[in-house]
Amino acid sequence: MGTFDLTRLLPADHFSSALRHDVRHGLTANPKWLPPKWFYDARGSELFEEITRLPEYYPTRAEREILIARSREIAAVTKARTLVELGSGSSEKTRLLLDALREVGSLRSYIPVDVSESALTSAGRALTGEYPEIAVHAIVSDFTRGLGLPPDGGPRLVAFLGGTVGNMPPAERAEFLATLRRELEPGDALLLGTDLVKEPAVLIAAYDDAAGVTAAFNRNVLSVVNRELSADFDPAAFEHVALWDPAAEWIEMRLRSRRSQTVKVEALSLPVHFAEGEELRTEISAKFRHARVADELTAAGFRLTEWWTDDQGRFGLSLAEPVGRNG
Ligand code: SAH
Ligand code: AVI
Repeated sequence: MGTFDLTRLLPADHFSSALRHDVRHGLTANPKWLPPKWFYDARGSELFEEITRLPEYYPTRAEREILIARSREIAAVTKARTLVELGSGSSEKTRLLLDALREVGSLRSYIPVDVSESALTSAGRALTGEYPEIAVHAIVSDFTRGLGLPPDGGPRLVAFLGGTVGNMPPAERAEFLATLRRELEPGDALLLGTDLVKEPAVLIAAYDDAAGVTAAFNRNVLSVVNRELSADFDPAAFEHVALWDPAAEWIEMRLRSRRSQTVKVEALSLPVHFAEGEELRTEISAKFRHARVADELTAAGFRLTEWWTDDQGRFGLSLAEPVGRNG
């Protein structure tokens, strides 16, 4: 058996303080919004895994196809000793990278970083059985609040898969990539998955599936607020909405109030009124083009060294290296 340990970098009162802040801020704003990280309690992480298996949700399959074709090349080029993965979830596709790095013989440790402790624990336990020679150091952390990557163990490969970078608005994404760049050393590399712009009907179906799993995932954020902040949201009173914004080139998920209603968030003594039809924005999911990925990486201090897509050109995987000096 390999070793597994878990470090909590989230403050103990993460749910009570960060969620309180986001709910107070987001539900009193106009329009109302909540950050997508609050989807991922244990139930939300399970629902996301279900989404990845839906016929309409192509990104996971498309990215897996690229990783099957390119993992050996990635391992040969990076010769990573440490694989860090941001928003690792079930670490399912990661096994392709772990296998390839094991073949090259460079890999010593895998550091999955996720806000979902349940996802980290179940993925980590499974991996120690499958990869007995690798130390798994899981980190429960919010990557939007600084990364705190361990400085040693280079060369490091930082993987940020699934298109999760697209869940950040552009300014936050730029700040995030620049911060990540500052934490990297020469010889380290970034592997970045980005979903690509395509036919709106294909995109909308991926975020509004026939079985209603994405709708349940979207509404799950209301259950998280109910449980953590003693709120009385009735999730059934909100309709799941997925729409394509052609100017911003992103999908937006929203929850539309089916009626005029006032929800009480008891822990904040906060009544929140929703007019009939009023929408709460819960997620953006940006879709990229090659030029935008290259430009954003350059602006953050990276150089795009490889760009791969799946055969149908649905999803992009970038390999990038830090350029210039840190700081
Ligand atoms: N990488 C996996 C999972 C993607 S789902 C894949 O490609 O299939 C997004 C993952 O990112 C979830 O596991 C979620 O818990 C995590 N996540 C979302 N926001 C986060 C944040 N701010 N900090 C850390 N993890 C986050
Ligand atoms: C994690 N992230 C990349 C997913 C996405 O596609 O934006 C989250 C998701 N939202 C709805 N379905 C999946």
